[in-house]
Amino acid sequence: MITAVQKIPEPLHGGDIWGQGNKAAMRLIDFSSNVNPLGPPKSVSAAIRRYMNRIEHYPDIEQRALRKAISKYVGVGEENIIAGNGSTELIYLLCDVLTKNNSVQRRANTVCVPAPTFGEYERAAKRAGARVIHSYADQHVRIKLEDLIKKTPPNGIVFICNPNNPNGQLWDRNQIEQLVENAQRQNAVVCVDESFIDFIERPADFSVARYVKKYRNLVVLRSFTKPFCLPGLRVGYVIASKEIVSKFITFRPPWSVNCFAEVCAVAALNGPDYLGRTRRLVQTEKSYLKGELVRMGLLVIPSHANFLLIDIRKTGFSGNVLKRKLVERYGLLVRDCSSFRGLDKFWIRIAVKKHAENRALVAALKKLLE
Ligand SMILES: Cc1ncc(COP(=O)(O)O)c(C=O)c1O
Repeated sequence: MITAVQKIPEPLHGGDIWGQGNKAAMRLIDFSSNVNPLGPPKSVSAAIRRYMNRIEHYPDIEQRALRKAISKYVGVGEENIIAGNGSTELIYLLCDVLTKNNSVQRRANTVCVPAPTFGEYERAAKRAGARVIHSYADQHVRIKLEDLIKKTPPNGIVFICNPNNPNGQLWDRNQIEQLVENAQRQNAVVCVDESFIDFIERPADFSVARYVKKYRNLVVLRSFTKPFCLPGLRVGYVIASKEIVSKFITFRPPWSVNCFAEVCAVAALNGPDYLGRTRRLVQTEKSYLKGELVRMGLLVIPSHANFLLIDIRKTGFSGNVLKRKLVERYGLLVRDCSSFRGLDKFWIRIAVKKHAENRALVAALKKLLE
């Protein structure tokens, strides 16, 4: 049993616009948080107005309407779904659930996390008292599936983010299945974070959400934050076997999905072809940004997601310095990636936004780098 208190890394993320003061925050163009460039669907604000009076009541502790809408959207049973206060809460719950002795598997005491990836997997695992091991990307910032398979800890947990934040790397269903089948033989659980899957060209061909019927050791994470541009609402969900979902129900704090989150998430799923429009915009604008950045002599990592990871070492600026200059001179906020395990201080990540905003970033970068 691991009892030593481990050093938990600081929670450093994009989207920290409030540090600039409330007024300045509203004027910034935020490229640091990878949300849908179209903004929230219109159906969401209509739902808040319509259901304002729900604030007088506790939310539905069983999340019935929300799980029903998600079930229809994903194509899995309602009993295979549980929602939380953003997918971040569910990452913490997953680590708590699996590191405690329970019937899902033997107590997990080791968690394998790729690098670079979303920092909360490591934090959640360490907070739950688990040992964390890493599978580092190669010099082209590609994470190797074979290495993740090799490092899968018996009785442990493996995280994989598909497509991965911050490099946009995508694995197909066969590859994820290999990882899950190998983990099954080791009595380990695989958590596939599909928070960005709605931005790729053919999400249904890459998602493993429906495989939870086949694999008891598979947990799929999704979020409303990125695809529906709702980071302030805080709604994410887990898709997993009934056994794992029932463990989440035992461990979760009650009512963590509030009454507005419930109705807005349902409204977002029921809106018109918003995700189709999103994908078309992201594809066009990603090519535009990539072309311009490459012409500036920057190294851009190929990405299947709605963001780009950029090596800026040739400019002589570190990510931190470039970020500061862009905010102070142009009101543009990018993600300095130095807090990502596995990346040095010469990387930034930018979200793909609407054309006028992307043009503003390109123009600012050209001026700073000339
Ligand atoms: C890969 C990944 N998963 C999960 C999250 C957390 O999202 P949520 O807002 O649902 O907590 C993020 C946020 O940046 C992320 O990048």
